[in-house]
Amino acid sequence: MYKIAVAGTGYVGLVAGVCFAEMGHKVTCVDINEKKVELMKSGVSPIYEADLEGLMQKNYANGRINYTTDYNSAYKDADAIFIGVGTPERSDGSADLSYIATVARQIAESVENDCLVVVKSTVPVGTNDKVEQFIQDFLVNDVKIEVASNPEFLAQGSAVNDTLNAERIIIGTESKWAEELLLNIYEPFNLPIVSVKRRSAEMIKYASNDFLALKISYMNDIANLCELIGADIQDVARGMSFDNRIGSKFLNAGIGFGGSCFPKDTKALDYIAKLNGYELKTVKAAIDVNKEQKTILYKKASKRLITFNGLKVAVLGLTFKPGTDDLRESASLDNIPLLLEQGADIYAYDPAGAENFARVYPEGDTGKGKITYVSNVENALDNANVCFIFTEWGQIKAVIPEMYKKLMRTPLVFDGRNIYNLKEMEEAGVEYHSIGRRP
Ligand code: UGA
Repeated sequence: MYKIAVAGTGYVGLVAGVCFAEMGHKVTCVDINEKKVELMKSGVSPIYEADLEGLMQKNYANGRINYTTDYNSAYKDADAIFIGVGTPERSDGSADLSYIATVARQIAESVENDCLVVVKSTVPVGTNDKVEQFIQDFLVNDVKIEVASNPEFLAQGSAVNDTLNAERIIIGTESKWAEELLLNIYEPFNLPIVSVKRRSAEMIKYASNDFLALKISYMNDIANLCELIGADIQDVARGMSFDNRIGSKFLNAGIGFGGSCFPKDTKALDYIAKLNGYELKTVKAAIDVNKEQKTILYKKASKRLITFNGLKVAVLGLTFKPGTDDLRESASLDNIPLLLEQGADIYAYDPAGAENFARVYPEGDTGKGKITYVSNVENALDNANVCFIFTEWGQIKAVIPEMYKKLMRTPLVFDGRNIYNLKEMEEAGVEYHSIGRRP
């Protein structure tokens, strides 16, 4: 059992902290936000994530996890401090490391024992060398400090399961002491561990995320061509998936990848490459395809309709994927402003993301179009002239084709997630446009 402190209680930090506690370690999660700390102590998760609250409550009750704003008390005698704070994108595509720097400074001022600092946040290759130097420079007490890289591979919506049953754990260390400590901390997880040098670990994270982003963009690119030549992208993907070298995952064409990771990490690696005088053409292509793909439904619908002005537009799904209330880089954020600009009267439904969306686009008249948030699919579709599907939530996939015909004024559907069978939509009398398949 180790004494672990975790800096940051977002997706990465909180889930890691809770899972370490579940595995028997004694964990203190640190966050600067007092309200959030109180919330977590009362057993409420600040993020929308399956299975998280149950484990938070269980491990708080048995004393294995605590939450605090007092970083000094959490860091001073920790065996390891995991950093899971955000590294948002700057306007030039580079990663903003100011949160990491703040935590590094606090660690340097607090630690009283030898301690391993483990960076879980996604950081540009070489950052951990600098973090180590930075902590050494500001270190108040005469203790041993080393920085290790331990990138996170969880996906939002399945974060707890992804952590407890990870396909691999990557650890990047520069000494036997650091490597052994991390191997011991992860021992109770009983998962495959890949132990490499620090820079390689940092690179594994970017290379993995950008490969997946590239895979999606490749399928989107092929989908657009399929439509032009009369092939069906879903059949094409199925045919490809039986080749084990390709695999069946992440072959779904759609309206581009969103979320806080792929968009940021593709741009960051492109930026890192440029800094080093190299042009990363493949990753650049993924970024370009994705940008175009985000508004492909709007472009299709604009060709089909004369105007959106005064039309009742049903929008199904606002989040960047199901299972989360996160809107970051979601296609809805690209398409809805375009529809409002044209004077559309939008009725939006999302099982988890509507509240967050309403913070950006408050309900009512925007001066151009109007937006109303509804609590079920039926209210969104009722008397609508056109429907857009942006997220493949279970509640949306459960809508049978006949419902569009029955409820909408004109059953015209633009689906960015290919959730329906073309023939079934046709038989139900719905005019259906999707991605990489001809109506
Ligand atoms: C992603 C990675 O999957 C995680 O392994 C990684 O740890 C995480 O980023 C991170 O760096 O923190 P996440 O962004 O939560 O996780 O979500 P994904 O499930 O990967 O989906 C990302 C986007 O790709 C979504 O908009 C999704 O709709 C889209 N996508 C995914 C497709 O368009 N097609 C697919 O076949 C799969």
